[in-house]
Amino acid sequence: MTSPVDYRLEGEIGVISVDHPPVNALSQAVRQGLLDAITAAQTDASKALVILCEGRTFIAGADITEFGKGPMTPYLPDVLDTIEASVKPVIAALHGTALGGGFETALAAHYRCAVESAKVGLPEVKLGLIPGAGGTQRVPRLAGAAAALDLITSGAPIDAAKALQLGLIDKIVDGDLHDAAIAWAEELVADGAPVRRSSELTVPDVEPDLFDQYRAQLSKRARGQIAPQHIVTCIEAAVNSPFAEGRAIERELFIECMQSPQSIAMRHLFFAEREAAKVAGLPKDTPLRAIDSIGIIGGGTMGGGIAMSFANAGIPVTMIEISDAALDRGLSIIDKNYAGSVKRGKLTEDAAANCRALIKGATDYAALADVDLVIEAVFEDPDLKKTVFGQLDEVCKPGAILATNTSYQDVDQIALATRRPEDVIGMHFFSPAHIMKLLEIVRGEKTADDVLATVLRLAKKIRKVPVVSGVCYGFIGNRMLRPYGKQSQLLLLEGATPEQIDNAMQDWGMAMGPLRVFDLAGLDVGYKARQALSDAMKGDPQTYRVPDLLVEMGRLGQKSGAGFYTYDDKRQPIPDPAVAEIIERAAGEFGIERRELSDEEIVDRLISALVDEGRKILDEGIAQRSGDIDVVYVYGYGFPVSRGGPMHYADSSG
Ligand code: 3HC
Ligand code: NAI
Repeated sequence: MTSPVDYRLEGEIGVISVDHPPVNALSQAVRQGLLDAITAAQTDASKALVILCEGRTFIAGADITEFGKGPMTPYLPDVLDTIEASVKPVIAALHGTALGGGFETALAAHYRCAVESAKVGLPEVKLGLIPGAGGTQRVPRLAGAAAALDLITSGAPIDAAKALQLGLIDKIVDGDLHDAAIAWAEELVADGAPVRRSSELTVPDVEPDLFDQYRAQLSKRARGQIAPQHIVTCIEAAVNSPFAEGRAIERELFIECMQSPQSIAMRHLFFAEREAAKVAGLPKDTPLRAIDSIGIIGGGTMGGGIAMSFANAGIPVTMIEISDAALDRGLSIIDKNYAGSVKRGKLTEDAAANCRALIKGATDYAALADVDLVIEAVFEDPDLKKTVFGQLDEVCKPGAILATNTSYQDVDQIALATRRPEDVIGMHFFSPAHIMKLLEIVRGEKTADDVLATVLRLAKKIRKVPVVSGVCYGFIGNRMLRPYGKQSQLLLLEGATPEQIDNAMQDWGMAMGPLRVFDLAGLDVGYKARQALSDAMKGDPQTYRVPDLLVEMGRLGQKSGAGFYTYDDKRQPIPDPAVAEIIERAAGEFGIERRELSDEEIVDRLISALVDEGRKILDEGIAQRSGDIDVVYVYGYGFPVSRGGPMHYADSSG
């Protein structure tokens, strides 16, 4: 078998090049190849060594597929020790994304250069891990403890300019990276530049309470997760202990994290997210339709956020409303959102202005004659949606994709309102649509393959995580939410309080408990939806009696200042005795004797409700695979990432 690592002499420079598609991950063969090359180079005619990669990126990290498969030598820390111990200067030349073990490889080299577009980072925390090959020890020695804490606990990559500023790389190079790196290596040789070992540096002094501050922040921001706290411990060790001791602590905690259910869950999600974008039977080479302009019908809560998602990706949008007043309202909310992004430092003023300039409004559907894709986001009324699709059929050019953002309605029925059902698809965004990552793509019975493939690709372009669903009431996510919501109502009648249910679920890891979610979404939404359903579809009245009573009292949730809770002017939920009374009254109507429920029972029953519906969704083929359901719940419904999604949680907890 040929090695993925090539070693050759180019003049006086030994060039070690890794070629292991797709992302040059550090599989066993790559580690062995690096070790062999660096060892051979110690005794040959080379005067300095350059490590670089072929393909789209420098090494993007350890090979995640090898985790959990047992020990495979050589271990990365040993390979990196050999690199750092080289008697000849080693230069790492970075392009693409030098991440995790890849960036650690670069940090073990003596000099680092990068092209301007390169990104570096230690994203291990996003997989429930900590850097396992010296990252927590070398970054603080090069950039200081505070910068190391930011970089490693966030897991967010930084660009080459920032890395240069922090001292994590030495040089940004122009032109061809291979040539530039060799030229720099020759210069270093000519100057007699020494080997520089970052492990031999001392971490600059730190503020005395720095580590406690980070521990406290992380216990809120990454509640219940072990890896972020372990990262703080390792960086503290880098400050207080010699390199070898710090690295031994790092190694021990890395192995603990790797074997933890949290990391197993997060690695499952990493692959599930990538798998979700693949559709069985949809050929990889399906031709795509060009999407250079978007139309949006309805500039309300969803329409505005969807418009921003496209504008932020540089795609022009025309947003249609029923009147000038409605249009002004919609556009002014978009203005406010962009102003907020600038204020929070998420966008520069120029960038926000450029995005905003891509969104224009109109009140006449004729403005959509030339757009490549239209997304309908009008009220959730099936007849209105059909009327809108009939109009779109009249004005849109042949080949335009017609999408609906409906939460529940039958996409096949909506498609039949047009003469081109093959061009119709569901694109179900989540609120706030410019922020939430999930996009459920609803494949209708007649949706053409190229329409599906185009929308999947487009999702990536606008930085959403797509999951394909079949047609059913509520698709994957909202369909599962129904039994979950119903179970929460049964728990209330049986004896729990809204705050007990919400706190139990939040302590377990959900971003928000179910009753706070209902209050946020508006209790009137479910109420109106129920009016359109038959009694059979509504199900057991015990599962909706309390919210019906609340709505009929004018308690619509946060928007009216009261729902399952009352809300203060900071929108904080306050338990309300009036609600407790309503619940007790409803329980009495149904002859239910209230009792004390444990938090454990609450969590168990609510999660079981999700999982049972998930199983039905799988059996019916609505979701292609259980990982897709996990991706929906983590990216769309605040399910804790460290539990891997409801289906993974159920599988792993037996
Ligand atoms: N190991 C194994 N496979 C990997 C991988 C890795 N580290 N990173 C990516 N892949 C695979 C993906 O699963 C995908 O496979 P597929 O085509 O069969 O679905 C393929 O490479 C391409 O990945 P993406 O679709 O994600 O490609 P993008 O171009 O969108 O993104 C990337 C590239 C930014 C490198 C992204 O893949 C990524 O973030 N990868 C993970 C990086 C990471 O977490 N590294 C740290 C690993 S842990 C570690 O290094 C521990 C160390 O400290 C000891
Ligand atoms: P909304 O009430 O905030 O906005 C709807 C907008 O559509 C209004 O501004 C209205 O003036 C406009 N409109 C109505 N008829 C129109 C027509 N014929 N032509 C042009 N504009 C028209 O509603 P929201 O919340 O934005 O929901 C829109 C759709 O998105 C619904 O189908 C809803 O189920 C779905 N959805 C809503 C989510 C949410 O959290 N609000 C989440 C995901 C989907």
